[in-house]
Amino acid sequence: MSKVNVNKGLEGAVIDTTSVSKVMPEINSLVYRGYPVQDLAENCNFEEVAYLLWNDDLPNASQLEEFTKKERSLRPLSKACLNVIKELPTTTHPMDAIRTAVSFIGCEDTEHWDYEGSDRKRERAMNLLAKIPTAIAAFYRHKMGKEYIEPKTDLSIAENFFHMCFGEVPNKDTIKAFDVSLILYAEHSFNASTFTTRVITSTTSDLYSAVTGGIGALKGPLHGGANEQVMHMMLEVGDPDKAKDWMLQALKDKRKVMGFGHRVYKKGDSRVPTMKKYAQLMADSTGEQKWMKMYDGLAETMIAEKNIYPNLDFPAGPAYYMMGFEIDFFTPIFVMSRITGWAAHIIEQAENNRIIRPLSEYIGHGERKVSK
Ligand code: COA
Repeated sequence: MSKVNVNKGLEGAVIDTTSVSKVMPEINSLVYRGYPVQDLAENCNFEEVAYLLWNDDLPNASQLEEFTKKERSLRPLSKACLNVIKELPTTTHPMDAIRTAVSFIGCEDTEHWDYEGSDRKRERAMNLLAKIPTAIAAFYRHKMGKEYIEPKTDLSIAENFFHMCFGEVPNKDTIKAFDVSLILYAEHSFNASTFTTRVITSTTSDLYSAVTGGIGALKGPLHGGANEQVMHMMLEVGDPDKAKDWMLQALKDKRKVMGFGHRVYKKGDSRVPTMKKYAQLMADSTGEQKWMKMYDGLAETMIAEKNIYPNLDFPAGPAYYMMGFEIDFFTPIFVMSRITGWAAHIIEQAENNRIIRPLSEYIGHGERKVSK
């Protein structure tokens, strides 16, 4: 038996300071650089929020223009990168595809191992902010057996992503709902994938390596992969009238129900009401009310039975489904947003670095000798 107090899952451990965001579960609030996320979602676009996370302030008009121009100019992938994506088996999970693409984009950066100060990190983060959506869409088209669609420079990140996936830009409501999801997914303090990027950065490794590791951490169903699992679960439930019984049975079977619970929020995730509002907007604009009815049935039962609340992945799953995305592309969409938060933390970690190296309590064999 261990004699020391083992901090399993690092619960409650404060391992560094940060100025990027603050989660305040007691008042159900999340702020990015001081701005409540709900305020940002209603009044800014994703590009402004990316600028805020990397520069500590919202951009003025000319700063936004310069930022947007740079981002749009970096969207195309090299022929070599496109070829790598086209060589991937179509059975590849899109998260593995985007992890591979990011790693390849890092290999194409010829100054890969040069000293990487904050300015260089910002440039590299911009390169990924611009190219990740192109890589996801390129893999989507490849998987569907369709021709690759070039990015456009006269569209926002959200609009251009739809254009590259589907060949058209949808109505304003869909774009707004998607843009809001990108803002809400952008940053969330020391979550598992962000912590991964900070650990990798703490060894003075480069931004591409840190982001590749972050994607690996985000893929898991206990973290970003939950938005995909939520939709698989809703398809399994099938009918809103079956939601209550389905949930009661799942709890009886001691199943972990995806899209519920959170390490930090115990009385609800501050991002949920905003995302739910935009998922409902998608339901109204597509006329498909079934998923939001099921949402209420599942959530009400879970809260009544276990006092466990939905997290952001719960409304995001059906919202993306109603926008027409394949389920296994939901977590890659999370990546095209979270690159902003990861990069902000990578820069912050590097600017005040100490290698992250916790301890463990050994519980294995006592000392023994090899006997041959
Ligand atoms: N479904 C069923 N029970 C859940 C649950 C869920 N989604 N989330 C938490 N619980 C239960 C746990 O089983 C545990 O019960 P117990 O005390 O009887 O063992 C209790 O609530 C405490 O939860 P715990 O597992 O300690 O929370 P955690 O902080 O370790 O894990 C999550 C947090 C997010 C990993 C966890 O809630 C989860 O797996 N959720 C589903 C995946 C998900 O939606 N992830 C996205 C997070 S944004």
